[in-house]
Amino acid sequence: MPEPTFEVSQRDWQGSCPHGVPIVSFCQPCTVESQGNQPAWKDINKLRSQSKFTRSNNDSPSCTLDFEGKKYKIEHVESGESPTLSEVQELFIKTFGEEEVDPEEILRQAVTGVEFGVPSEVKYKVFAVRDPEGKVVCTVAGGNLDLRDESGTPTGETMLMIAYAVTDKDVKQSGLAREAYISALMDCAAEAEKTGKKFAMAAGECTYTSEKFWNKLGWKRPYIEGGDKKTYTELKYVQPALDFVKKTGLPKKGAGEVAEHLMVRPMDGKTPSKERVMSTVNAFYKWCNRWGEEAFSSKKAHRTNQEYVDGIANTFKKELDAGGQLIFLDQTNREKAKVRGVKIKEYKEAEHGDAGKEDF
Ligand SMILES: CC(C)(COP(=O)(O)OP(=O)(O)OC[C@H]1O[C@@H](n2cnc3c(N)ncnc32)[C@H](O)[C@@H]1OP(=O)(O)O)[C@@H](O)C(=O)NCCC(=O)NCCS
Ligand SMILES: [Zn+2]
Repeated sequence: MPEPTFEVSQRDWQGSCPHGVPIVSFCQPCTVESQGNQPAWKDINKLRSQSKFTRSNNDSPSCTLDFEGKKYKIEHVESGESPTLSEVQELFIKTFGEEEVDPEEILRQAVTGVEFGVPSEVKYKVFAVRDPEGKVVCTVAGGNLDLRDESGTPTGETMLMIAYAVTDKDVKQSGLAREAYISALMDCAAEAEKTGKKFAMAAGECTYTSEKFWNKLGWKRPYIEGGDKKTYTELKYVQPALDFVKKTGLPKKGAGEVAEHLMVRPMDGKTPSKERVMSTVNAFYKWCNRWGEEAFSSKKAHRTNQEYVDGIANTFKKELDAGGQLIFLDQTNREKAKVRGVKIKEYKEAEHGDAGKEDF
């Protein structure tokens, strides 16, 4: 793997744009330039046209949302010390339960862009929405990642990985998560512009209960053509463990793999190739599951962590390579295809957890 390019990209977000503004902070001129150069603005404008809210600012992720005189506020939380993060943490705990959520300190460090005491390759991006009473009721969080080719070299394209999308259950389906997502897209487009890259893809490891929401944002699941031309099987995406033993490099007890639905949204409107899907998955793993050497007590433990993730990535790649054509479907397309006699096989293992009728 060519280490020098990795070194450069590791510091990308710590630099400044040509206007002297930090890469990770809002810069008006860069954002305006991105509107002419970054294809993601097509999605941003389309999603905005579907929204009932009026944004106080057309090109900043932080803004006020107005609906019939009621004012909500979106804040891009840039500082790891922001009090907003405690409220975001509270919303995570309320939604997923305390045992499922990382301690607040981990969230704060991630927003600072530091992991294990060294600058991380990725700065965690948090977009929080406050209701008219000032309460945080929705959060979208993720990271702007580099896409890389097979040798690990950045291709000059970036992607937005959404790690969390959460809306307080009392105000679901009022359009707030879409607004926070629009802000995340704006931020990723502007950041790509600042670093001379193209923002090419949004993607995530999605729960089966949220497909309708993601479909509304244009996200789809990948299906691969099987033995006969009329069978398409959803790609079996696995999220590797997220926590490892320092001494051994093995996943911590209870921190195992989880089957999830991979969902993607290309920003250029083109169907993603197999290579593009693989580089998306590799970008997830590099950020979330492959820990740096300094996180382990020995080189051997670090190698064990890498080999563990390699194994999962290789299984996914094999499935991708062995199949025929790759297609992307939302719920509506899937039903239409079935009516036409196409056999669609879902990834049932990803359907775990609690779900109510309202989720589908
Ligand atoms: C998924 C989630 C974040 C969506 O948040 P939200 O604020 O309700 O979403 P929005 O209101 O912005 O939804 C945008 C569009 O999707 C639709 N939508 C959202 N959830 C839906 C559902 N369960 N069923 C049908 N449509 C849904 C909305 O009605 C809206 O449609 P419109 O364009 O016709 O107005 C929220 O349901 C949630 O917190 N779920 C639990 C956590 C979770 O599973 N997160 C996803 C992890 S991958
Ligand atoms: Zn700038």
